[in-house]
Amino acid sequence: MNDAADSPDLLLRERMAAELPSKMLAHIDRVVSLADEFARMHGLDVARARLMAQGHDLVRAVKGKELLRRAEARGLAIDPVERDEPVILHGPIGALELAERFDVSDADVLFAIHWHTPGHPDYTLEAWAMFIADKVDPHKVERWPALAEVRDLASTSLEAAALRYLDLRLEEAIERRHSVHPMVTLTRNALLRRLGHLAP
Ligand SMILES: [Fe+2]
Ligand SMILES: [Fe+2]
Repeated sequence: MNDAADSPDLLLRERMAAELPSKMLAHIDRVVSLADEFARMHGLDVARARLMAQGHDLVRAVKGKELLRRAEARGLAIDPVERDEPVILHGPIGALELAERFDVSDADVLFAIHWHTPGHPDYTLEAWAMFIADKVDPHKVERWPALAEVRDLASTSLEAAALRYLDLRLEEAIERRHSVHPMVTLTRNALLRRLGHLAP
């Protein structure tokens, strides 16, 4: 067996395939391939970015009501925005289940997966590679063409791409009068500061 065939993301893919709908597996495959591309482009840890991408949507197909039940059963702190939109909980619950049922133990990988919907101020560049890859899946760009700008920025700076994505999300939330997860704001503030958009 060569290195690629027993790489951690491929082994995880094999185990996840038994419980995921084929559409979700296809999305994950596209995200792994884009995360790989972004990680290579920026000289990052490709194996780690691929593993983050492979695991990120383990429980994305689970219904919101069930995600809320699992979060409550575990005694997780649930933000009011998560209570209104329990789908956001697929990150935290997915990270916990990857550790418990799929032997994923890399703390950076689990952290990146936990926060992959809003991002996080402490994200590594590998985590941003996975985050952007998820947001610019070609099927999503087709549905929301503004995402093409996020994809194009990613070749210059993953953090600038992430900031653009969070700006777009915020603009959309304001337009539609949707609530915004508090971590979106904290992450955006951190990126603004890091990218020098704020006065010191
Ligand atoms: Fe997701
Ligand atoms: Fe995803």
